[in-house]
Amino acid sequence: MKIIHISDIHLTIPGEPMGGLNPHARFAKALADVAENHSDATRIIITGDLTHWGEIEAYEALKQAISDVDVPVRLLLGNHDNRGNFLAVFPDHPVDANGYVNHAETIDGVRYIYLDTVGDQTHAGHFGADRIEWLASQLAGCTRARLFLHHNPMPIGLPAEDQIALVDQDQPAFHALLSEYADRIEYFHFGHVHAPIHGIFLGVPFASVPSTGNQSYPDLSEQTWLKGGAMEPAYFVLTIHGDNTLIHQIPFAWEGELGQYGTQWEDWAKEDAAP
Ligand SMILES: [Fe+2]
Repeated sequence: MKIIHISDIHLTIPGEPMGGLNPHARFAKALADVAENHSDATRIIITGDLTHWGEIEAYEALKQAISDVDVPVRLLLGNHDNRGNFLAVFPDHPVDANGYVNHAETIDGVRYIYLDTVGDQTHAGHFGADRIEWLASQLAGCTRARLFLHHNPMPIGLPAEDQIALVDQDQPAFHALLSEYADRIEYFHFGHVHAPIHGIFLGVPFASVPSTGNQSYPDLSEQTWLKGGAMEPAYFVLTIHGDNTLIHQIPFAWEGELGQYGTQWEDWAKEDAAP
């Protein structure tokens, strides 16, 4: 089974650039690449920063962009989103009892849990007691789970980025759930950092996906400034079979030529070698 993980599309009011790029064109290109090469995917999951500044017009552009996508799309919010405006444009979107855009579904016996880690007008993530209670009930009620969220819920070794991770006061309860249910959480996937970072935290594998727009440079010592530029964008293809997960990073915007190389693997010889 394939799951497409896209993040940080940062749609604007159409016509407005974002970081010198056209985010609508980039997102359309990513969707076109998925349609061409991965139409057999089970879901497209977009882990937040759906828009750059949360305007109604930007969400309407998103709604239009995914209206003819054949693969079911799941939407999460990020720190650049506006929950009220999102729900105004997607009024039928599921929310939890407290109005957060927390939702979940079961696919092939695995609970796919989509989290809302957004706080009011802050770039840091929030996941307080009411949201923890919702997540705990989801985890308690399943035997296998896979989490998707926008913010990294723990430090990722990038001091500047870590200032806008899940806030310190909300990390312990989240980590306690990861630890308690490490044997049933297959993976957690996030965006936010605009960079591919992979590892294992509290026994649970995790992966963050690049943005479809600008990327951040993973600076392991910078304390204050987030650094980034127009490096190669990508989305992920998660191929999941039982307990096994493969993650391929797809550089969908590459417009250079691709070489083709033979598969005569036994022919180990340098071509046109000098005499
Ligand atoms: Fe972002």
